[in-house]
Parts: sequence; structure tokens; C-alpha cells
Amino acid sequence: MRMYDIIKKKRDGGELTTEEIGFFIRGVTDGSIPDYQISALCMAIYFQGMTVRETCDLTYAVRDSGEKLNFSAIRGIRVDKHSTGGVGDKTSLVVAPIVASYGVKVAKMSGRGLGHTGGTVDKLEAIPGFATTLSDEAFVRQVNEIGLAIVGQSRQFAPADKKLYALRDVTATVDSMPLIASSIMGKKLAADDDCIVLDVKTGSGSFMKSTEESKALARLMVDIGKGAGKKTVALITNMDRPLGYAIGNSLEVIEAVETLKGRGPEDFTEVCLTLAAYMLSLADMGTPEEAKALARKAIENGSALRKFMETVAAQGGDASCIADTEKFAKAQYSYPVLCPVSGYILRADAEQYGLSSLALGAGRNKVEDAIDYSAGILLKKKTGDFVEKGEPVAYLFSNDPSRFENAAQILLSATTFGPTMPEDEPLIYDIIA
Ligand code: URA
Repeated sequence: MRMYDIIKKKRDGGELTTEEIGFFIRGVTDGSIPDYQISALCMAIYFQGMTVRETCDLTYAVRDSGEKLNFSAIRGIRVDKHSTGGVGDKTSLVVAPIVASYGVKVAKMSGRGLGHTGGTVDKLEAIPGFATTLSDEAFVRQVNEIGLAIVGQSRQFAPADKKLYALRDVTATVDSMPLIASSIMGKKLAADDDCIVLDVKTGSGSFMKSTEESKALARLMVDIGKGAGKKTVALITNMDRPLGYAIGNSLEVIEAVETLKGRGPEDFTEVCLTLAAYMLSLADMGTPEEAKALARKAIENGSALRKFMETVAAQGGDASCIADTEKFAKAQYSYPVLCPVSGYILRADAEQYGLSSLALGAGRNKVEDAIDYSAGILLKKKTGDFVEKGEPVAYLFSNDPSRFENAAQILLSATTFGPTMPEDEPLIYDIIA
């Protein structure tokens, strides 16, 4: 088999066989296929697409390209949730303890933030002492004992994806449906959970800008998950505006804790309850409606908060910060972003808000960049709210005050005002089961 022939076949619109896809991924993993040929095939896939069968084969080959976790020592049903990434998306911090409070196991491996999107591992590291690396034994023991552990992806999971993603990133081939689906699901399936709930974001702050594209991606990923024998559901949720009011690591942890205490923002609470409902339902805890009532109850009776505190303490974090969030380190400086006109907020572009937070030091441009955990944005007004001229739309936080002007400029340029209240957009567009 020759890589040249595989590239040519896809370039001309052909359907690759399972063997050809296997040959490609083996060559990516062992380094025998040069970067220029890998990139050429990615570009051919970008233009020609792939059938569902080809995408499934690609995903399973990516899944099998490295170590697979052996979770057999974990007792009980394991459920995971994966978000395609967004701004202000701290749902894992709320959803995982809700689900674990009912004895369903959540053995979570999360990512770090990059560009305008945040990552759960960075958020957790904003909690003093919290360790996001555990040995396999400690990870399994913690999941068995308290039902929940959250760590970063330190293992060589799906190494083919790491290589492919790095090349896609520099060859303008990231936003290809089969490549995104196989990348996300290849890694998810390598973690070998029993059930997967996907939170596919749609809108300016996400990979998929249109609802139709997001639905198609969600359907594809559900097909891939089911094809691999996993119970899989996808929610398509709004990321045209930030979720909740907080953007930035410790600010988001505080908002998540407030939500676990029953005082969270309406939009964020609703997305969390719905995600938790589907996770519980897949784990045989009733219909999604019944499971949603359970999720709500876990917040009301404090069991989800207790589970989160237990998890924080088990991973070396200071659980007293969760009991009293005033203990989180504060940024040295804050800056109000004042509204230049009176009117309704018609649009608050999530991607740009994420970039504004990045400009404050809360995120990374490159993987190796350091981050300021206390930096970020607290919104005072959101889409649909009326704002008077001179009123703050948001407060910015940073330990470097020279960053404020640029960040405020990005935020204001991304906010559109008008005289009439905009139509409300759905928070959850669809659920693909
Ligand atoms: N997230 C991933 O892990 N891979 C993609 O291709 C896009 C988003």
C-alpha cells in the first residue's frame, strides 16, 4: 500500500477502505508517513469529506493508536461528559459531583484551555493545592471510594490524534467534520467509559458556528459512540454568548460553587441540570425527566456540593475555599467596562469575550504559556439586558493593569447595543439520542 495512492483516491472523491485508513493511522503513529503526506490527506478529507463508515474507521484507528485505559478495577457504571469547548463553560465542575452523588462513577480526564476556550484542568488548579495528576492506582481508588476523580490527560491516549491535530492546526484543516468527530471521539473512546454525554456547542464561541453544522457533528459523534458499543447522547447548546457570568479560572470555580449551593445563574444551572439528567439517565437512573429531578435534588439537599468538597480534599485541594469562596486569591486590580450608549445588549460575541479574558492573562496563546488564575471577566449584563450609558457591563480582573485597555476594547467591540430587546435564543437547541 502506498500513501500516494490513498491521497490521490481521497483527492478524487473516493471512499477509503478500512485497511487504507488503518495503514494511514499506523503510519502517523509510528512516524513512517511524513508530515507533508499526512497534511495532504487531511486537506483532501477537508474538501471531499468522509462517509460515516470511513469516519468510524478513522475514529477507531485513532482510539487504538495508543494505550487504552483499563478501568476494569472501577466498580459500577462509568459515565463521562465531553464539551466541544466554549467560553465560561464550567459545567464539569457542577455536573460531575451531581452525578457522582448518586453513586454513578465519574472517572474524568479533562483538558487545558487554549485560545479563547477554557479548560477544566486549569479551573481546578485555581483551587489551592488541587492536584490534577494522580497515579493510576490513586485515580482508580478515588473513583471507587468517592465516585469522582478529575485529572488532566497525562497518558499517551490516542497519540495519532496529537500528531494529526498539531498538523491540522497549521494547515487550516481543523474545521473538518470527520476530522473533528474522529479526534474527539477517538480520545473519548480510548478512556473506555460505559456512557458518554456530549455537549456540542454551537455559535460564535464554538468550532461549529451554525446550528445545522453542530447538529450534523453531534449526530456523527453519536453514531460513532454507538458503533463502538457505548451509550451516547449529544446536547446541542448555545455558545453564541458566554455561559453564566464568569469567565476566567478562579472566577468560574466560584460561579460553579455558587451553582452547587443553589445560587447559580439561570442559564448555566439549566445546562448543568440537563447534562446531569442525561448522564444519570444513561446510567439507568430513570427517564431524563426523572433524572433531572434527581439532579435538582442533589443541589437542593447539598449532596452535590459535599461530593465536590470531598473530591477537592481527596486531590489535595483546600476544601475550605469551597465552603467560603472569599478565600480564593483575588486579582490585584479590577476595571469597570462602561457602556458607551443606553440600550439593550443585542449580541455579546462569545469568542471575542473569550479573547478578552485571554488578553487579561486568564488563558494561553501557546500550550506552554503561564496563566493568571485570578484574571478574567465578571459580566454585569448579558444579551437581552438593558444598560444605561455609563453603567458597567462587566468588570475585568488582572494582576497586570496594563492589560485592561486592550481587553476592554475587545469586549466592547464584541458587544452590540440597540433600542429594542432582541429575541431570546434557545439555550439548548436539540438533543440527539
Ligand atoms: N477538539 C478536539 O479534541 N479535536 C478537534 O478536532 C476539535 C476539538
